[in-house]
Amino acid sequence: MNSIKFYFDNKLQEIDFSTISPTTTVLEFLRSYPGRWGTKEGCAEGDCGSCTVVIGQIVDGHLEYKAVNSCMVFLPSIHGKFLITVEDLNQGDNLHPIQQVFINNFASQCGFCTPGFEMSLLALYKENPNPSDEEITEAVEGNLCRCTGYRPIRDAAASLRSVISRDNITEKEPVVIKALSSIERTDYLDLQYEQQHYLIPFALDKALELTDQFPEAVLVNGATDVALRHNKQKEKIGLIIDLSFVEELRQLEIKNDYLIIGAGVTIQRLKNNIKDTLPPLHEYLKNFAAKQIRNRATIGGNIMTASPIGDLIPPLITMGAQVIVAGKKDYTYTVEDFITGYRQTRLEKGQILKQIIIPLHEDWTFRFYKVSKRTTLDISTVSLSAGIVVSGQKIKDVRLTFGGMAAMVKRATQAEDFLRGKQITEENFIQAGQLATNQFKPISDARSSAPARSILAKNLIIKFYTDLTQNSEK
Ligand SMILES: Cc1cc2nc3c(=O)[nH]c(=O)nc-3n(C[C@H](O)[C@H](O)[C@H](O)COP(=O)(O)OP(=O)(O)OC[C@H]3O[C@@H](n4cnc5c(N)ncnc54)[C@H](O)[C@@H]3O)c2cc1C
Ligand code: FES
Ligand code: FES
Repeated sequence: MNSIKFYFDNKLQEIDFSTISPTTTVLEFLRSYPGRWGTKEGCAEGDCGSCTVVIGQIVDGHLEYKAVNSCMVFLPSIHGKFLITVEDLNQGDNLHPIQQVFINNFASQCGFCTPGFEMSLLALYKENPNPSDEEITEAVEGNLCRCTGYRPIRDAAASLRSVISRDNITEKEPVVIKALSSIERTDYLDLQYEQQHYLIPFALDKALELTDQFPEAVLVNGATDVALRHNKQKEKIGLIIDLSFVEELRQLEIKNDYLIIGAGVTIQRLKNNIKDTLPPLHEYLKNFAAKQIRNRATIGGNIMTASPIGDLIPPLITMGAQVIVAGKKDYTYTVEDFITGYRQTRLEKGQILKQIIIPLHEDWTFRFYKVSKRTTLDISTVSLSAGIVVSGQKIKDVRLTFGGMAAMVKRATQAEDFLRGKQITEENFIQAGQLATNQFKPISDARSSAPARSILAKNLIIKFYTDLTQNSEK
């Protein structure tokens, strides 16, 4: 089958890829679809939110809605889903409650950003009709407005709490569910257009068979990294295996004091599910990109970029996490051992990153710090993931993992060795900070100068001391 199906514009659409490239983004599709130009292109790299759309997916028999940046979503990955754009808010002669509150609160001036804000809010209110102020801020943190100012937009968003009820989209749900459920199931989809080949397996076995058959294929999951190759480098990626439909990669469970996370679990889902088990990681992930990106970006994709400034590798190393790689057989590595260099891992061609396993240590206290120029939607300048085991007043064990201080994420081993067996005193942590700055030779780049990075590294270790002594919460 060379086509996908999804629900859009009041019908089940079938897109045949003999005439359109499978790396067409949902935004590019919309910009060429008659009458659906409300979705705007600002940055084409996930940074402005003007292209936000809502994707509905059937989960346990009902539709779950997520706001995503349509510029970062390849069209085939919405197969079997419900695509909602700002035009779907239309309810005949009446405005949708979201449109009405924007008018009532003067929340739109030039209007360029408005469709994106309204889509982010639609997904929020579908998820939760009574969100907190923090949840409202989180919902629109990935949407930029250059002219209205954020207060009226927040006022509009907050005023929806009292007015949102059943809308035209909720009323459509039975029809949408019926249409989506009628899509025939296959083992995999094989989409071909000119020299491009886009494969979608639905189970891990099939995914492994395809990676074995096509070891040169580019794997994608959320595509928040890979889509940039299409958008910014104008690269025609020849062969893609899309793992985002593989159910086995989306499992998330606690078993025998281990948190087991499928590589395809999104950052947003991970964040929402670890509020009680790993509160410091939950807090830290609030500053990973913005909600639209977190709704797509996966933990596996983040590890596989092996970026020295990515958010997840430092905490995973500090927590002693392991990865399971699937191929001809399964292999287990610690995350520390799995990352071998600048954007390098031990994953070999034909293999897939399957799971991440985090031990839930009772005796460790963790703190994760990310320093970036902006709070959200920014990659880190320097990060420290710190963990400690204390016995009496003495440090029994400690791990200090830095991002942004070397070509790959690295532990400050000299500082760790110095602290082990020592008392928790400010002086000892200041000295450990000095040892960390001596160990690393960071670079100067657009984000920061090398000396500023060294000062940050030292100060983060002192901040860890302050947090430990002023706040004993795990
Ligand atoms: C606007 C914006 C903001 C961002 N902010 C942050 C941030 O704050 N912090 C941060 O760390 N990152 C950030 N990123 C980077 C990116 O979102 C993350 O690295 C994300 O976790 C990648 O996951 P993905 O599923 O989208 O990966 P994809 O783009 O699908 O893939 C990324 C890489 O991983 C490989 N891959 C994916 N899944 C597997 C698998 N199961 N097995 C083997 N290989 C696999 C792919 O082949 C590819 O090389 C940002 C990106 C954007 C566009
Ligand atoms: S166009 Fe800016 S986030 Fe998509
Ligand atoms: S209303 Fe003009 S950018 Fe927001």
